[in-house]
Amino acid sequence: MSTNINKPSLPVSKPLTLGLFGFGVVGKGLYDVLQSTPALQASIKKICIKTPDKKRAISQNHFTTSSEELLNDDSINVIVELIDDADAAYEIVKAALKKGKAVVSANKKMIAAHFEELLQLQHEYKTAFLYEGSCCASIPIIRNLEEYYDNDLLTSVKGIVNGSTNYILTKIFENDLSFKDALLQAQQLGFAESDPSLDIEGHDAANKLTILLAHAFGNIATPNDFIYNGITSIKKTDTILAHEKHLKIKLVATAQKINNNQLAAFVLPQFVEANDELSNVSNEFNGLITESSFADKHFFKGKGAGAYPTAAAVLSDISALRYDYKYEYKKYLQPNKLTLTNDYFLKIFVSADDLEKINKDDFEWIEEWHNEASNNWVIGIIHATKLQENDWWKQTGVSLILHQNPIVNNVEYKKIGKRSLQLAGVI
Ligand SMILES: NC(=O)c1ccc[n+]([C@@H]2O[C@H](COP(=O)([O-])OP(=O)(O)OC[C@H]3O[C@@H](n4cnc5c(N)ncnc54)[C@H](OP(=O)(O)O)[C@@H]3O)[C@@H](O)[C@H]2O)c1
Repeated sequence: MSTNINKPSLPVSKPLTLGLFGFGVVGKGLYDVLQSTPALQASIKKICIKTPDKKRAISQNHFTTSSEELLNDDSINVIVELIDDADAAYEIVKAALKKGKAVVSANKKMIAAHFEELLQLQHEYKTAFLYEGSCCASIPIIRNLEEYYDNDLLTSVKGIVNGSTNYILTKIFENDLSFKDALLQAQQLGFAESDPSLDIEGHDAANKLTILLAHAFGNIATPNDFIYNGITSIKKTDTILAHEKHLKIKLVATAQKINNNQLAAFVLPQFVEANDELSNVSNEFNGLITESSFADKHFFKGKGAGAYPTAAAVLSDISALRYDYKYEYKKYLQPNKLTLTNDYFLKIFVSADDLEKINKDDFEWIEEWHNEASNNWVIGIIHATKLQENDWWKQTGVSLILHQNPIVNNVEYKKIGKRSLQLAGVI
């Protein structure tokens, strides 16, 4: 017996005409991905690039160097910004939003530097600005933080958010490559930023942490508001020690609620135990762990760099525009948000080619120390403000690596004070 059931029809989707800025690793990646997804009905009308005479994989008549040509074209309703110049990107995004065009971007540096203004522009011109590809590339973390964790109280978000530094650390640890060779490979594979110092000095991960803070906790910060560093100072002796203790070293971004109304945030190299989910996040992969009151723990893993993984996130944003999706920034708009603080203690490992370079006075408590010609190290407890205010730990020859469980209960160490330091005979 057959029944005549009327199938529900899909809502009529909005035709999307794209103006694309940038045809580098990600821009070209998006172009290819769009060729494979005709059902999306999104077509690129024009591509704006910087260097007119560069050899391209597609015909020159797709390109222009005039940003106005895209911005002033009323038939273009979506601007996709995929360039490597954060200042120029800000001007493009601002102009596009003011013209009422929806914007998709993957430019974490630009977003972190102008978060507040970009929020204001979206509100004022009622246009969508989506940037899933800016944070952990293929991992759909922003939309999950916006939508899924809306009613479940998050207590922490932490993880590996930079694909190139993770690639470099993996190659140093697993293939015994030198830092320089590992970086070169990451660049050749298109994982590194055009300015690799953004990756290896931790700026890129810090920019991503500001995006996570905004969507996870509604907190608008800049990287200057929290402690961060990259991986350039990690020494061979540090990796040998990690191997001996069956640990790995990863660059970890952390945002963690430390009491009812305060939040600790930092990006630092960290020792990771073999049973930690982050231990097996290798190469250009990223991994994020969220903890929340009711859902408990979630682990996200995916490619955090590269042409197609990043293009996939950009494509997902473009697709979301068909049904007028916008971020609502609900956590930012709610009253009684958590505030960022540096009033907490960290357990750290610091190694130096000269023991004098380690400012022992800054420690609350030194648990272990080792003094040997050019391999000196200290494990101890330090107040986060000492790291924020002083930079002895950033000088050449010194590396700081967080303990596997870095945040230490405040009350316990406030009581102990400097007494144990004196007992250890260190000061
Ligand atoms: N690569 C990744 O794995 C990855 C992952 C996540 C996010 N991202 C982000 O995605 C963006 C693009 O990165 P990418 O790796 O694709 O960079 P890329 O390979 O260096 O390409 C940059 C592109 O931007 C164009 N460009 C630069 N300044 C411009 C301007 N003022 N106007 C128009 N075009 C301009 C360049 O033009 P020419 O071709 O003429 O030089 C080039 O096509 C960056 O914000 C990056 O942080 C990248």
